[in-house]
Amino acid sequence: MDVASLAEGLQALPLSTLLAAATAVVLLAAVVMRVLSNNFPGKAPPVEEGIPFIGGLIKFSNGPLPLMCEMYKKHGEVFTIPLLHKRMTFLVGPHVSPHFFNATDDKMSQTEVYNFNVPTFGRGVVYDVDQRVRSEQFRFVADALRTTKLRTYVPAFKQEAEAYFSKWGDEGVVDLMQAFSDLIILTASRTLLGREIRETMFKEVADLYHDLDDGMRPISVIFPYLPTEFHRRRDAAREALRAIFQKVIKGRRESGVKEDDMLQVLIDSRYRNVYGGRATNDSEIAGLLTAILFAGQHTSSVTSSWTGYRMLSNRKWFEAAQEEQRRVMRQHGDTLDMDVLNSMDVLHRNIQEALRMEPPLVMLMRYSKEPFSVTTSEGKTYVVPKNHIVACSPTFSHRLPHVFKEPEQYQPDRFAPPREEDKPIPFSYLGFGGGRHGCMGQNFAYLQIKTIWSVLLRNFDFEMLDPVPEADYTSMVIMPKPCRVRYIRKKLAA
Ligand code: HEM
Repeated sequence: MDVASLAEGLQALPLSTLLAAATAVVLLAAVVMRVLSNNFPGKAPPVEEGIPFIGGLIKFSNGPLPLMCEMYKKHGEVFTIPLLHKRMTFLVGPHVSPHFFNATDDKMSQTEVYNFNVPTFGRGVVYDVDQRVRSEQFRFVADALRTTKLRTYVPAFKQEAEAYFSKWGDEGVVDLMQAFSDLIILTASRTLLGREIRETMFKEVADLYHDLDDGMRPISVIFPYLPTEFHRRRDAAREALRAIFQKVIKGRRESGVKEDDMLQVLIDSRYRNVYGGRATNDSEIAGLLTAILFAGQHTSSVTSSWTGYRMLSNRKWFEAAQEEQRRVMRQHGDTLDMDVLNSMDVLHRNIQEALRMEPPLVMLMRYSKEPFSVTTSEGKTYVVPKNHIVACSPTFSHRLPHVFKEPEQYQPDRFAPPREEDKPIPFSYLGFGGGRHGCMGQNFAYLQIKTIWSVLLRNFDFEMLDPVPEADYTSMVIMPKPCRVRYIRKKLAA
């Protein structure tokens, strides 16, 4: 058959048949290309085909953990899953993770994978700006979280925690997650957003934060601007919060009164290498405060809760933490400052171990701007192509038995000498990420959680009424499902 008669024959076909045939050809081509790309096992990572175009999307949307588990068993530490038109390569465990954490942003970018946050934080900050601007904005944040500033935040943590728990009765039943969420937004308001908000606008800000938070759902990661009611409420809340922050900033600028909080540091910050060295503007300050509130709120309340659930269901660790409080109280009385908190190794390791078992961020992501190679613990080398979404999972990596012995067991002493299981291979412990974009709030979080648990250990005893809760993997930040704990007010004798 010549070309002309082929064209004539095609013209005679109905449009629907032509479209179906064209789709079939494109699908076939995609399958062939994917299969071919699998033929270089020494180079590209193994690809799990799934259904063409949809790829691993269905499995992925049932939760990334079962998918990772299945793929890890099948392919090992590195594998690729097609998700619609994108490809996601998973790097499991410390051997294949250094590039992910150490590479510069021009090689492993955050913008493409985290820009779903833009409608939450607002324009002009964090993932809405290029990397040079972002790194300066994060410098401002780092200034507000350096040791000298943290020292001034600790009395506020203590005061807020004592005031909050003083409202509990002599005994009762609580859901720790709920209690810590309420308390942590109070301490964050005070140390980060500022005295004015804590004292006069707290309820309003907490409600707006709730709407903003509710507007970030798994679907928002793929379609952040989908015209839904929860996105509409998110946008309204963001603008209302911005207006509140701007009012407070104006008041501060006019009065000339300086406070010891992150808001003040952000007001006083100036760019160095971009924007002609100008000062931060009100809108940027509001956006950064919102981003920081987001970074610390759920992560800290979740970690405080798991610390409680795990200590209480492994009673010897709860008792060890009580004993440590007794020792500290004998040495320092009621004083609870940064140095005292830093001396609490037992409590520290309880928090660290709770965070190992249940990290609130199930996946950290980057976007490969150029190919890079990784070598597995078994010595296999793969080249991850450019334009892949690349993911590391603290949750999954923390449960690898060749990294953490008996990973399903709660053993805070795995971090103490002589075990120190997090030390031999860098990036074994990912509770706070690591490398170039490791958590800037790690010390803030430890001080805050230690203050809360010190106040609790000194004033209450607890009993779990339910088994250790399961984690809810359907939310953006992985949280414990509801769990009842009984408390009894009881002063700890030193
Ligand atoms: C227990 C509480 C917390 C946990 C588990 C946690 C966890 C993490 C993790 C895993 C990352 C790395 C993300 C990535 O590599 O993509 C991160 C980044 C970050 N965290 Fe935290 N975080 C906590 C508390 C906080 C707090 C309280 C603040 C601020 C006051 C904060 C501010 C940040 C910032 C600004 C970054 C981004 C750093 C960068 O991209 O360079 N975090 N956090």
